[in-house]
Amino acid sequence: MNIDHFYVTTPIYYVNDKPHIGHAYTTILADVLARYHRSLGIDTFFLTGTDEHGQKVEKAAARKAMEPKAHCDETVVRFQELWQRLGITNDKFIRTTDAYHKEVVRRILQDLYDRGEIYKAEYTGWYCVGDERFFTEKDLVDGRCPECGREVSAIKESNYFFRMSKYQQWLIDYIQTHPDFIQPAFRANETLGFLKKELGDLCISRPKARLAWGIELPFDPDYVCYVWFDALINYISGVGYLQDEAEFKRWWPASYHLIGKDILTTHSVYWPTMLKAIGLPMPKTIFAHGWWLTGNTKMSKSLGNVINPMDMIDRCGVDAFRYFLLAEMSPGNDASFTEESFVARYNSDLANDLGNLLSRVVKMVLRSCSGVIPAPETLLDEDRELSAEVAAARRAMEASLASMKIDQGIAAVMNAVRAGNRYLEKTAPWTLAKKGETDRLNTVLHTAADALRQVAVLLAPVMPEKMAELRAVLGYDPEMAATAKIADLDLPGSGPAGLTVKDSAGLFPRIMPEEKSAANAAPAEKPAKKNAEKPVEKPVNVVEMIEITDFSRVQLRTATILAAEPVPGADKLLKLQINCGAENRQIVSGIAPWYKPESLVGRTIVIVANLKPARIRGVDSNGMLLAAKAGKELRLVTVDGDIPSGAQVN
Ligand code: MSP
Repeated sequence: MNIDHFYVTTPIYYVNDKPHIGHAYTTILADVLARYHRSLGIDTFFLTGTDEHGQKVEKAAARKAMEPKAHCDETVVRFQELWQRLGITNDKFIRTTDAYHKEVVRRILQDLYDRGEIYKAEYTGWYCVGDERFFTEKDLVDGRCPECGREVSAIKESNYFFRMSKYQQWLIDYIQTHPDFIQPAFRANETLGFLKKELGDLCISRPKARLAWGIELPFDPDYVCYVWFDALINYISGVGYLQDEAEFKRWWPASYHLIGKDILTTHSVYWPTMLKAIGLPMPKTIFAHGWWLTGNTKMSKSLGNVINPMDMIDRCGVDAFRYFLLAEMSPGNDASFTEESFVARYNSDLANDLGNLLSRVVKMVLRSCSGVIPAPETLLDEDRELSAEVAAARRAMEASLASMKIDQGIAAVMNAVRAGNRYLEKTAPWTLAKKGETDRLNTVLHTAADALRQVAVLLAPVMPEKMAELRAVLGYDPEMAATAKIADLDLPGSGPAGLTVKDSAGLFPRIMPEEKSAANAAPAEKPAKKNAEKPVEKPVNVVEMIEITDFSRVQLRTATILAAEPVPGADKLLKLQINCGAENRQIVSGIAPWYKPESLVGRTIVIVANLKPARIRGVDSNGMLLAAKAGKELRLVTVDGDIPSGAQVN
């Protein structure tokens, strides 16, 4: 690969919540890229970290009645522990509350302010707390946030602005002349589409009176820096900008900023214009990957379908989880996580194909060669064909790294594994052994073992522990087995001839779906053969378990319906007046297809009492009623017997 350094970043994650599969995916993808580049002998730096300022974090801390920094210190550990568990090899973990980062942000702000790139003005517009972003009236979609659809609040205040608009044409030209800059290409088009509208200046401050948790502006102590302006700078402060120029020169520009598709605009518009104003070169590629869905549904806490990476690791082991995420998602597109697809892929790729090839070779070497991998004799076409297949997989893997199609690189290696199994069936070493054709047997076993040796190195960045184990089974020194590099695959003496294999329990025992409720604990400890040929059964839904404290955040109360009427122009909606103890409220609910308004009056229902008010079809709704739905049927949740309105439900 023709590059002299490789610098990869992940988004820095908000510390307002615990990490989920989306965070795990980007971080594993970055880790796999970093490991591959190190394996190819390329100088590599991998940066990840946490985004700790801003309103979301301030609010999350307030909910726990904690100081924001104390909350961050507590939450950051969840990310750090998960990365350790997942074998993530980041070279640095940056926190935006780190003193050096804050200093770099302040110096950049001062410099941009001194050069007139930042100015003060009065602002009127709309603000989305969820996305921590401002929008103009025309940006809104049906009066809601254009990014996430949540409610926005009207804001009028004096603020500081970065002259982003002045770089609009430059950015358009840059994207058009640098096809690698935003990847996949359809995301570059999406950005160009966004840039068709007039680009405004970027509000980069928040008055402390409204939000105190941020980096104070060096030129106005009444304001803190906008969280995105602060966060994006991590990509340069994390590699020494304004602190260690030699280090910075070594790594910048970044090779890849890996991001999810939902944070494209901040990375493809804000960040490049900021860099341009600062006077720094652009990163080589901003790569936006798709979303992990549960089946076909977006993961969301309210649906209870968020995949918790820690649970998955407990159930199937770290490497199988890493493998599935990388093999299953074609990085630009969305992918679906279901237990069924996980079990199917694990059993077919790892247990059947790779695990089988290894156990066949090891058994034959133990049985017919006293456990020592023999040196090859005369090579025939079929031997050369398998070696060519492995060499092609290696080229495909390297090419897939350059084009960010790792799933295709992995598929090419798995093709070589399948070719290895076909090779054994064709050459039938068990028959050669019976017939005493020792020369041919030696060549076949060596060729197959050598294919496994290379496959283990090619897949090591994806499954570091399992591939080190595989190499140790082939007889490599465990230390060397863990550090073998693609760059050294052709070194003289790197082949397996003369190594003593180890008998091992299967590397990838089959996962049986019916054992899932027993948490699929440590598949490595289960007997490989048990129920081996049983078909995969229907999936068990993966539901995230919550703590009692999570549940206690939701206030459920009884309420009596006082009046009900249709919402004009909305077939499904009813407007209900309800009493919930001390107060009367109005709620809007989509139950019109099941209930006539007059049939509802007097009923005692259950509502979520602490849901933020919303406007639905222009009608205020203050709370949400509960109903059970099965297929086309819907029934209100009511209480058994007499109970006053406003009673707590728990
Ligand atoms: N703090 C900002 C990033 C600042 S970078 C200078 C942020 N943090 S986040 O924690 O909310 O999200 C981090 C990443 O997780 C985003 O790239 C987002 O796309 C990704 N994912 C969140 N849910 C996801 C899935 N279900 N699937 C894949 N990735 C998703 O945004």
